[in-house]
Amino acid sequence: MTKSIQIALDGPAAAGKSTIAKIVAEQLGYIYIDTGAMYRAITLKALNEGIDLSSNEEAGKLLADTEIDLQPSENGQLVFLDNKDVTEDIRSQHVTKAVSEMAAHESVRTQMVKLQQQLAEERGVVMDGRDIGTDVLPAAKLKVFMSATVEERARRRFEENKKRSIHTPIDELQAEIAKRDKMDSEREVSPLRQAEDAIFLDTTFLTIREAAAEILRLAEERLS
Ligand code: CDP
Ligand code: CDP
Repeated sequence: MTKSIQIALDGPAAAGKSTIAKIVAEQLGYIYIDTGAMYRAITLKALNEGIDLSSNEEAGKLLADTEIDLQPSENGQLVFLDNKDVTEDIRSQHVTKAVSEMAAHESVRTQMVKLQQQLAEERGVVMDGRDIGTDVLPAAKLKVFMSATVEERARRRFEENKKRSIHTPIDELQAEIAKRDKMDSEREVSPLRQAEDAIFLDTTFLTIREAAAEILRLAEERLS
């Protein structure tokens, strides 16, 4: 029996990746790595420092001079940017609107992929993002590409925002999600796409519990 495996969860925005990845990691006693949070953190720094987001060179230099750290806590994963807790700040609409431009740069992706691969070395891991199955962990034993209709994904973000007292209209959220998906899918460097050996999971009509159970079932299959 294999002791632990790497699990790659990819898919478009608000498909439920991070929610389900956290549950699966907890159940299996693995670490969870939210790679989107890492792209969000460097985007926050670029916005704070007035860096030109369209410059591949400036973006790469900024990241080379930055420390991004993910730490588990009782209230979920905490994100540190140069030793400052930015867990809440990286979820702002300001960052959400800018992140895909930052994440398209080759200079940024090369460094991020290396860092993510180091974090996952020789341990059981559940990692979620856009290029995990294709580029970061191409040898992952389980790859799942999760999606849901854009209407359902906007509805889920809307409900999530409500709990955080953010009241962006649902049509605005849907447009933002669709725009980001398009940028992420059409960029030249490691675009969002399903790896050939990934399993497609449509979560439109699945509860969180059902989607997590399906991924746990697939993981158990790989483990035995
Ligand atoms: O949670 P949400 O789906 O809104 O996004 P996220 O997972 O936090 O990712 C934010 C953005 O980071 C994505 O829209 C991508 O532009 C970028 N990203 C990426 O390019 N590659 C990854 N592995 C993860 C995120
Ligand atoms: O990580 P990603 O952007 O793919 O999505 P998420 O942040 O995990 O999920 C977005 C929202 O959808 C969260 O509030 C989840 O609780 C919710 N969700 C849901 O209602 N039903 C699912 N089957 C999956 C997620």
